[in-house]
Amino acid sequence: MDHFDYRSGELHCDEVPAQALVEEYGTPLYVYSAATIRHHFSVLTDAFAAYPPLICYSVKANSNLSLLALLAELGAGFDVVSGGELQRVQEIGGSPQKVVYAGVGKTDSEIRLALAAGIFLFNVESESELHRISRLAHEAGQIAGVAIRVNPDVDAKTHRYITTGKRENKFGVDLEQARQVFEAAAQLPGVEAQGIHIHLGSQITDTTPFVAGVRRVREFLASLGEIGEAVRWLDIGGGFGVHYRGEEALPADQFAAAIVPELEGSGLGLILEPGRFIMGNAGVLLTRIVTAKGNPERRFLICDAGMNDLVRPALYDSYHRIAPVLGDSSDVDGVKTDVVGPICESGDFLGLDRALPAALSEGDLMAVFSAGAYSYTMASNYNTRPRPAEVLVDGAEHRLIRCRETIDDLLAAERAALREAPQA
Ligand code: LLP
Repeated sequence: MDHFDYRSGELHCDEVPAQALVEEYGTPLYVYSAATIRHHFSVLTDAFAAYPPLICYSVKANSNLSLLALLAELGAGFDVVSGGELQRVQEIGGSPQKVVYAGVGKTDSEIRLALAAGIFLFNVESESELHRISRLAHEAGQIAGVAIRVNPDVDAKTHRYITTGKRENKFGVDLEQARQVFEAAAQLPGVEAQGIHIHLGSQITDTTPFVAGVRRVREFLASLGEIGEAVRWLDIGGGFGVHYRGEEALPADQFAAAIVPELEGSGLGLILEPGRFIMGNAGVLLTRIVTAKGNPERRFLICDAGMNDLVRPALYDSYHRIAPVLGDSSDVDGVKTDVVGPICESGDFLGLDRALPAALSEGDLMAVFSAGAYSYTMASNYNTRPRPAEVLVDGAEHRLIRCRETIDDLLAAERAALREAPQA
């Protein structure tokens, strides 16, 4: 469910026509719907009401400060994967006691930052990381809460780049080695193993991997004896899928109906780390057609947004629905069209082989849907292209939540070096 609808043939975000946003803020433009974000957060909370979880929104999906502030207001905690993401949470005054910190390559300075912030749990990805956290916490006179991230070897059946819970992936510790890591944690100073963490992958549209993952973890904890009994939290990561083509995602209550019975009676607190589920369908990318051209086989609509603004189609071959801002909400029975960007690579496309109205031409606006997650956060400056502006719509209100970058912003970090370069 989202709040992007066509009213009298014109795309609206909540009460605001998309065209009005473009007139004010320009293109390419990321537009987010506050009502959609709130809706997804409450759907998740309601679905798991019988077993209330700590919801740690996964900052990597969309880390805009205003969106983090909105989620903190709703009561969300945060899942971070870098010192930078933690600093974003600090910037908006998010409670450190609701922050979990994963990541296979935490540096000493990042660990120190998280210790100083007083985060809730480090999701520990290796035995050597455990030793480092122990040493740094001990030096700081602290006890760090840790959850050991285990790799349950479950196939999430999603794109291979976003599958994370299989043995060949770099994340977490094999279940066979995990016993040793828990035993080490019980001996080491400065750490207390309070939790166990899994994350199976992203855009998962089936409940089976979660059931299998939770069962494996519970069997493992039972086999740990006394050390296992000390574990109070099970963090099942993120991964709940969203709609890209149609209605392919599962409602949250189906995930809850499958997962909760596996936990009842365990005494374990549940942590969820949803990113895409909350943000994916809450954003669109608006872009203007710069050039229309074609040959007998193909029509190309060349837009002012490209793979630097939205890399998912190029990187994962992922499908984002594309439709004109004025006209129809769905791909109509039109002309076969490649919707591409201006970047000098053939992989620079937003969508291939789409049926789009023959009348679409230069200057017209298009919307790329389901662009709320892993879209702005993965944008780059490739081809020296400033990143787009971001706007948050709330009912009839709208405001800029990130300025469009300028060429000056891009050049600033290099200019000093140019001035200081030795003269020939
Ligand atoms: N927790 C951990 C430890 C994660 O690694 C991730 C995502 C999440 C939670 C949130 O997963 P979600 O609920 O959003 O599925 N760039 C890719 C997705 C990469 C996901 C990385 N990890 C994409 O655009 O599809």
